[in-house]
Amino acid sequence: MGGETGTEVDQYGVVGHPVARSRSPFIHGLFAKQTCQRLAYRLYDVMPDDFVMRVTGFFAGGGRGLNVTVPHKPAAAAFAHTLTPRAEQARAVNTLAAQADGSILGDNTDGIGLVRDLTLNLGLVLAGSRVLILGAGGATRGIVAPLLDLAPDSLMIANRTADRARVVAASFADLGPVKGCGFHEIEAHPWDLVVNATAASLTGGRPDITPAAIGANTICYDLAYGHEPTAFLSWALAEGAAGAHLGWGMLVEQAAESFHLWRGVRPETGPVLDVLKG
Ligand code: ATR
Repeated sequence: MGGETGTEVDQYGVVGHPVARSRSPFIHGLFAKQTCQRLAYRLYDVMPDDFVMRVTGFFAGGGRGLNVTVPHKPAAAAFAHTLTPRAEQARAVNTLAAQADGSILGDNTDGIGLVRDLTLNLGLVLAGSRVLILGAGGATRGIVAPLLDLAPDSLMIANRTADRARVVAASFADLGPVKGCGFHEIEAHPWDLVVNATAASLTGGRPDITPAAIGANTICYDLAYGHEPTAFLSWALAEGAAGAHLGWGMLVEQAAESFHLWRGVRPETGPVLDVLKG
């Protein structure tokens, strides 16, 4: 990171730890090709203790923008000089962008990425619906406000540790009908949309929730992605869910929002999503 001074090509990248398996360089490479933008996009594996120094060096060296992934999203929110309202709500930043005055803007495109996938790619109408989010960590904080923007009838955040869900819900209560509860308190009749935002999928586990939450019209979505359904999605399908979707669409849509912020051009996501899923 750094040492980019004097290069002609605008420098971008993703900073995380571990980050070797990130698909972001591939996605942004396809976006750049499609929109005829000349840019470089690299992986930066950075330990938490080095985050501020490395990111400062990247921008001091002329870097234009960074995606930020686990575990640095809260640190990136503290690093940015200015936050967009959605990044402030999420208290997490997945996109840093150098501004004309030299300051660094922090944005969070994760939530809008999910919403675009749900509404545009999957064609869901969430106005008036009942939405259940599983998990109450950073991933959940990034998606609550954009989901509330879709005017659901109710949005329940359920977490293994109930108090954490209640605290997160309370911090968004002024934006819409959101509540928090423990897994055992989840209302036992089918929800319209169930989003798994727990970290359970990363270790092959699934949130232990009542099968009564899943019905013949329930759509299930996992923020995780891979080439096999997660344990949660397999379980949901076995319980009769109407649909089960991995987070590929959210991944590509959040990247497109970042690309748009950096370059002022919106890439087409469909072809990129097809390549990744294929
Ligand atoms: P992230 O930024 O990915 O959201 P996080 O802030 O560490 O990560 O939050 C992880 C979330 O996944 C939490 O909601 C956690 O539940 P607890 O608050 O009870 O710890 C949830 N989680 C992790 N593993 C889980 C599992 N096996 N079953 C259910 N929930 C799990």
